[in-house]
Amino acid sequence: MRLDKYLADACVGSRSQVKQLIRKGLVRVNGNKASDPSMAVNDHDTVECNGDPVTYRDHFYFMLNKPGGLITATEDDKQETVLDLFPEKIRKKLFPVGRLDKDTVGLLLITDDGALCHELMAPSHHVDKRYLLCTDKPMDEDDVKAFGEGLVLSDGTAFKPAVLEIDLDDVCKAVITINEGKYHQIKRMLLARGKEVIYLKRLSVGALELDGSLSEGEYRELSEEELQLLHKKRSNLL
Ligand code: URA
Repeated sequence: MRLDKYLADACVGSRSQVKQLIRKGLVRVNGNKASDPSMAVNDHDTVECNGDPVTYRDHFYFMLNKPGGLITATEDDKQETVLDLFPEKIRKKLFPVGRLDKDTVGLLLITDDGALCHELMAPSHHVDKRYLLCTDKPMDEDDVKAFGEGLVLSDGTAFKPAVLEIDLDDVCKAVITINEGKYHQIKRMLLARGKEVIYLKRLSVGALELDGSLSEGEYRELSEEELQLLHKKRSNLL
């Protein structure tokens, strides 16, 4: 791969900015000053810019603990989006995997890997998503049964069977597992049972769990192990 592409993919700067850095003599490959942006480099080469090591990556994968009040979109004229939390330098490439409502908090994967996004979100792939929820009224065994059988709304919308685990110490609190992602799905399911969801937090997507040490609004890159979990899911789906 060309050196300027390597640097641009690693978000050191735009293609023209990294060419300037190379021309200024600020880029070294295996310890030697590089002067040609078209020079070939590969994963085994050591690349430094301004003395800092530059690691090649073909994609970014971030786990965000989404806060309430931000919309899940790449850009919006009026409202703040989840991508506004990310540095401008990389924001342009990124998009959220799936959608959480403005008031929903919790795990949101942010990436530039369109293929992975499709594999996790395609309805036919049935990836489990777990949420913690609180309702305005107590939930009971009839709700568990109705969700387990697959709820059909009065407008004909049918939801696949979902698992509702009510907290026995607080029956207004539960963990729900769904494997589809229809618009306002959990809120509509609960509303059909006469309950309003007053708090909703996504805990996991497939085998990927929200890191409990991330406060709302914080994000971090996925670890190697977490990436492997996602890729394992990917190979199971193929
Ligand atoms: N279901 C909802 O109702 N809202 C979300 O944000 C996610 C699932």
